[in-house]
Amino acid sequence: MRLIASIATAFTLISVIQAQNSTTVATTTTSTYPADGAKPVPKPEWMELIKNANITNAPILKSNGDDGPSTSGTDNYCDWAKSGCMGSSIGDCPKGQWGLTYDDGPSDVSPTLYDFLKTTNQKATLFMIGSNVRKYPATVKRAFDEGHEIAIHTWTHSYMTTLTNEQIVAELKWTELAIKEITGVSPRLFRPPYGDIDDRVRDIGTALGFTSVIWDHDTNDWMLAEKVPGFKSEWIDGNFTEWAGEANTSSTGGLSLEHDIMLVTVQAAIKNLPILQAAYKVVTVGQCAGVPSYKETNVTLPVNASAVSSSILPAATSSSAAAVIPAAAPTTAPSSAVAAISDANAGTALRVSVILPIAMFISTLIFA
Ligand SMILES: *[C@@H]1O[C@H](CO)[C@@H](O)[C@H](O)[C@H]1NC(C)=O
Ligand SMILES: *[C@@H]1O[C@H](CO)[C@@H](O)[C@H](O)[C@H]1NC(C)=O
Ligand SMILES: *[C@@H]1O[C@H](CO)[C@@H](O)[C@H](O)[C@H]1NC(C)=O
Ligand SMILES: *[C@@H]1O[C@H](CO)[C@@H](O)[C@H](O)[C@H]1NC(C)=O
Ligand SMILES: *[C@@H]1O[C@H](CO)[C@@H](O)[C@H](O)[C@H]1NC(C)=O
Ligand SMILES: *[C@@H]1O[C@H](CO)[C@@H](O)[C@H](O)[C@H]1NC(C)=O
Ligand SMILES: [Zn+2]
Repeated sequence: MRLIASIATAFTLISVIQAQNSTTVATTTTSTYPADGAKPVPKPEWMELIKNANITNAPILKSNGDDGPSTSGTDNYCDWAKSGCMGSSIGDCPKGQWGLTYDDGPSDVSPTLYDFLKTTNQKATLFMIGSNVRKYPATVKRAFDEGHEIAIHTWTHSYMTTLTNEQIVAELKWTELAIKEITGVSPRLFRPPYGDIDDRVRDIGTALGFTSVIWDHDTNDWMLAEKVPGFKSEWIDGNFTEWAGEANTSSTGGLSLEHDIMLVTVQAAIKNLPILQAAYKVVTVGQCAGVPSYKETNVTLPVNASAVSSSILPAATSSSAAAVIPAAAPTTAPSSAVAAISDANAGTALRVSVILPIAMFISTLIFA
């Protein structure tokens, strides 16, 4: 991984690097990415894309320490964190459907989650952090190949309303490019970290061809990961049970927020998915919202990536979801350059998948 990063230049690189412990996959390496910890700067041609866009002139907000911008006061700019204003953001699924999302990956524990999803043929929307995409390219490729919907969660996981227009463009476009170079596709969906979005951020996203996604069912699973005092894992189970119980009476479906960042959050996700599946048609965000996952219309998606059971979906939604791929002019991932990609931590992921059943058993004893 480090080797690939250091020899990648602004020009397309053609090379084959044999990596240990991983499957060799074809991809392109064409870009020099923002350095770790650096605030990304956009390419000039990306700024051209928003040059003529009508972008709401909202102020750039000041961060309130780690908590981000203040959420009190009047909301003049459709700021979701402040007022729950949705604007053009997607935040729910139609009745009977549930949008399944996992944020902040890929990570060492993502393969454990993917392994489980595969056993139930469940596809999810994965909001990936760009810098993590660069660290775990083989995991990104696997997620795409297994039919999950790859989506953007910015490059640095920053509060987007605190960023300049240039910085917002860079956060979205660098992440899009990193995903495109690994999978051959450019995601349409992005989720603002912490749900921190207003109309300025939305307008920039729209001008770049993206749609924002919030959520309406929060597991707060990150509190488990961060060992927030007093937080109980049973609450996550209790919430899922409650949400499942509302399936018949609620006028809408749901769209949940979970994280594939630590073993505990992945364990909670694995434990509770069957509860949701028993009550809802659990799908990707693109499927429930009828939005194509990717910008390209001429790529061949993995088997089942956009497969939706038509028995539950409203006709309009299922037809737009299926319209992602025209029958004509299919192609596969880019072939102009070929390089082997592997995750630096492939061994760790393997060990985690062995440890998981044991850890789940132990945690059952502790938390019961
Ligand atoms: C491959 O796996 C072996 C044994 O698990 C380990 O020693 C080695 O460092 C791994 N190599 C890479 C590139 O991950
Ligand atoms: C820009 O958007 C605002 C708010 O939607 C609207 O009032 C205004 O007419 C638009 N301006 C242009 C030039 O389209
Ligand atoms: C749902 O989770 C919240 C914390 O995220 C907790 O306060 C609440 O008690 C939980 N509900 C149930 C039914 O467990
Ligand atoms: C919802 O309705 C279905 C079909 O009528 C029923 O089988 C199921 O038990 C109900 N679920 C709940 C949680 O009430
Ligand atoms: C697919 O479409 C993109 C533009 O969206 C174009 O650059 C590319 O050449 C096309 N590939 C094929 C094989 O048609
Ligand atoms: C595709 O979906 C079908 C029906 O749900 C399932 O049986 C099959 O295993 C899936 N194939 C893949 C590659 O996921
Ligand atoms: Zn996040």
